[in-house]
Amino acid sequence: MTRHLTLPRPDDWHLHLRDGAMLAAVCPETTRDFARAIIMPNLVPPVVTGAQAAAYRDRILAACPPGHDFTPLMTLYLTEETDPADVLRAHAEGIITAVKLYPAGATTNSASGVTDFDRVRGVLDAMAEAGIPLCVHGEVTDSEVDIFDREAVFIERVLDPIRRATPGLRVVLEHVTTRDGVDYVRANDDGLAATITVHHLVINRNHILAGGIRPHYYCLPVAKRETHRLALREAASSGDSRFFLGTDSAPHADDAKESACGCAGCFTATNAMSILAHVFEEENALDRLEGFVSRHGPAFYRLPVNEGTITLEKGDTAAGWPDRIDTDAGPVTVFDPGFDVFWRVAEGA
Ligand code: NCD
Ligand code: ZN
Repeated sequence: MTRHLTLPRPDDWHLHLRDGAMLAAVCPETTRDFARAIIMPNLVPPVVTGAQAAAYRDRILAACPPGHDFTPLMTLYLTEETDPADVLRAHAEGIITAVKLYPAGATTNSASGVTDFDRVRGVLDAMAEAGIPLCVHGEVTDSEVDIFDREAVFIERVLDPIRRATPGLRVVLEHVTTRDGVDYVRANDDGLAATITVHHLVINRNHILAGGIRPHYYCLPVAKRETHRLALREAASSGDSRFFLGTDSAPHADDAKESACGCAGCFTATNAMSILAHVFEEENALDRLEGFVSRHGPAFYRLPVNEGTITLEKGDTAAGWPDRIDTDAGPVTVFDPGFDVFWRVAEGA
């Protein structure tokens, strides 16, 4: 028996589209299903000015297949040199939706990130005043902090002080991976939300390390132990509007992943909606998928819910997708959830 589920078209509130040949190949994987996405600015060099964001937006739109109705929501990469006036201007002109904070050295292409948080105080104050959200990569980078503790330590040492010092600043704790993060968001009801990825609902750290090292499950923040995965599932499927989808789909060519020093990032754009339907059905929460993918994000970002719809259907045979996407920058492996998924996005929806 086929089951159907029709939702307003979903949005992806954290996405890496890259540039050049990679952008051309991965962009359609997102625009097929998603109406909007918050676009990460960690290119090389990063997107740091309004003018660069406008140019990148135009390259994304050029890579978007005809017939795919897609709006990239651009972000600026916050540095200690960011000019508050440029941020305000880019926002007022509709070029950017948010600003992204990477602690220096936290992840792929984050060398330009922030080391001294006092030096971005002026920008954060201006953003609070204008209601511009700050998207935060929530990990400290201090080498003495264990990688599995970096999110919890970031919340205590950086996030909470920033929020206290800048009241009114709207903050998204991106790709939350721990129970600590979920609890922190739940305890704060003033302009704080979190995105959750598809892969962190599916894998824990055993998937990366037990029985052989699996580079395609390595991402940042790294997947934690099972108790944290369960907390993320509970938060995502709870109906709490402070939690919404940000896939953090982050393509890297296979040779960069399958290496002695492999890059961080899982590529989930291709099968995100299928896997999410599977996960929410397992949680007996299919009726809450709509909030997570289509409603909570727009509510936080103060944008309308999309008018179009998407239909998911569950068939008797496993949904197929390519193992990898061919790009002129090399093949990119699609995230493998490790189980059969019977949900697919209906053609022509
Ligand atoms: C991202 C990337 O490759 O750009 N990687 C990742 O593992 N998520 C960077 C990031 O968002 O941390
Ligand atoms: Zn990311």
